[in-house]
Amino acid sequence: MVERTFDEALNIHTIGVREWKGKDEEKYNRYEATPYEALEMFFEQYELEQTDTLVDFGSGEGRVSFYVHNRFNVPVTGIENNDRTFEAALSNKKSYRYRAADKDAPIYFEYGLAEQYDIQPTDNRFFLFNPFSVTIFKQVITNIVASLEKDPRMAEVILYYPLPAFKRVMKHTPLQKVKKVKVPRIHGKYGKFIIYRYTPESE
Ligand SMILES: C[S@@+](CC[C@H](N)C(=O)[O-])C[C@H]1O[C@@H](n2cnc3c(N)ncnc32)[C@H](O)[C@@H]1O
Repeated sequence: MVERTFDEALNIHTIGVREWKGKDEEKYNRYEATPYEALEMFFEQYELEQTDTLVDFGSGEGRVSFYVHNRFNVPVTGIENNDRTFEAALSNKKSYRYRAADKDAPIYFEYGLAEQYDIQPTDNRFFLFNPFSVTIFKQVITNIVASLEKDPRMAEVILYYPLPAFKRVMKHTPLQKVKKVKVPRIHGKYGKFIIYRYTPESE
């Protein structure tokens, strides 16, 4: 019910699940959106500033991108490598834009692999909801760190549904865990967001 109400308010369709088939399902996780209730609880405690740009690695049909864009009017980029899921995100973008014409920040969706996304010096908030295998996750985090070291800036990685293997990867990076937001009754013990911050040496 809550899911449908939020989708309708944003004028998008993001409910449901899309599984990968065959060999791909070993490395790419299925499409399933972050519950709106979890997003509401998290963003009551976490603000985005006008200077922030959010990247959603494994953006699915775009729920997190549209929600964040609508709430904060900041630039968002979603990366998705399932063609049908990506097409659904593009279709959502059209209907969302019609409804949210007053929000002027850009929204981009890129079709491709998260591990090959060319991180921009303006990208500084990175969101992941259990999108892929830990091997791919490691590569994405390596790319983020390389970008932050090349173009030093404060940045945060936000993990929803943080599995132990992902948390172990984060321990071996220069990012520090700074906050945890639990979302009771959703997704059991993994129903939480963890934020890891990168602070440049000069700060
Ligand atoms: C659990 S869903 C999360 C969707 C969205 N981020 C959200 O929270 O609503 C994970 C998405 O990541 C996509 N995905 C899996 N592996 C990927 C990869 N290597 N590159 C880009 N997207 C990927 C899947 O197709 C799926 O749509």
